[in-house]
Amino acid sequence: MNPAPNLVLVGPMGAGKTSIGRRLAERFGLCFVDADHAIEQRTGATISAIFEHVGESGFRERESAVLAELLSGEGQLVATGGGAVLDAGNRRLMQERGFVVYLCAGLESQLKRLARDRSRPLLQRPDREQVLRELARIREPLYREVADLVMDTDGLTAAEASSRLCLQLAERWNGNGVAA
Ligand code: S3P
Repeated sequence: MNPAPNLVLVGPMGAGKTSIGRRLAERFGLCFVDADHAIEQRTGATISAIFEHVGESGFRERESAVLAELLSGEGQLVATGGGAVLDAGNRRLMQERGFVVYLCAGLESQLKRLARDRSRPLLQRPDREQVLRELARIREPLYREVADLVMDTDGLTAAEASSRLCLQLAERWNGNGVAA
């Protein structure tokens, strides 16, 4: 049994980290925190505005600072942004302070789930499929490196995925003394 004090979700945009995370947090009695939302609260700016004004590198600095702050706490389910695993320090922290679940999704599911999204700066271009494919090529090994558990969300609703995940987590994770 892994005793990590937090649950951490990693995975690409459109894997369902927020929708599955909310359900899981409720089941495990954890406080749900969306890292992007926390960044917006701390900075008083939207993710799009941050990318626009300080670029992706400025966003990544803020992302690392917020993750460090969040993961110093416990009893939380932290849904991270798709690029959070790029930084080695973030990955170390996630592993030290969290039981890490990689939610994976194929390109087709991602495109479908993100079809109406206009808020993600990296996808504000016509060649979304190519962008997502290239991001996956770089990030997929990093998601796997950091993960304690991998779960494929393709073809599952958020409710189905979180129910399955609950069962698997109950067998492997006893962080914060909580049980499913
Ligand atoms: C990003 C994913 C987004 C957000 C930002 C950058 C990425 O989070 O952090 O737009 O680099 O993949 P979600 O994975 O929650 O969409």
